[in-house]
Parts: sequence; structure tokens; C-alpha cells
Amino acid sequence: TFVVTENCIKCKYQDCVEVCPVDCFYEGPNFLVIHPDECIDCALCEPECPANAIFSEDEVPKGQEEFIKLNADLAQVWPNITEKGDAPADAKEWDGVPGKMKYLEK
Ligand code: SF4
Ligand code: F3S
Repeated sequence: TFVVTENCIKCKYQDCVEVCPVDCFYEGPNFLVIHPDECIDCALCEPECPANAIFSEDEVPKGQEEFIKLNADLAQVWPNITEKGDAPADAKEWDGVPGKMKYLEK
């Protein structure tokens, strides 16, 4: 399965949503997650993310392992998203900012 990691927080570009053939993205206020049981490992979303926030489960960067469970847990409670909406106006300013976990809204 693929996993959305920290750099998506407050960037939320949603380009990933457009390419997913099985619509397995779920949307929170400032972050998206992938439902691990629905993802078919097609890898299409990974290169689409302008923030490089998507990784295969076994390639999640060191220190971001908690995002594997976070994707699984939040995909159960957040609504499905199938169409790309607007990214936050300040998405670019947040791209690459470290330590964004504390800004995650659930
Ligand atoms: Fe969707 Fe494919 Fe990305 Fe999985 S790897 S979330 S199926 S686009
Ligand atoms: Fe997030 Fe990248 Fe998708 S920033 S919403 S994972 S395109």
C-alpha cells in the first residue's frame, strides 16, 4: 500500500486524487490519507504529488513510520475524496517545512 506522509500537511495539493483508479483517498481539514485496504499499489499517485509526500509503505522515510497507522486510522473516519479541490492559498509556503505533524487537524 502507499502512504501519505508529513509534507502533505497544510500543502494538500490533491493532485494524487485525480489519478487514483480506485478512489481510495480520504480527506481531512489539512491532510489526505490513503485507505490501506483499498489501495491497489498502482503507484500512480507517488510522482503526482508536488510535495513528494507519498511513499510506498516499505519506503516511508525514517521517522515517519507513524504515518502508516495514521493513514489506516483516519481513512476509517474521514470522508472519501474523488475530485481535486483547491489547495490552500499558502500551500507553497508550507512545502518542506519540518515538524508539521503538530499542525495536523483531525
Ligand atoms: Fe491510488 Fe494507486 Fe496511489 Fe494506491 S498507489 S493510492 S491505488 S493511485
Ligand atoms: Fe497531499 Fe500530495 Fe496529495 S500534498 S493531497 S499527497 S498531491
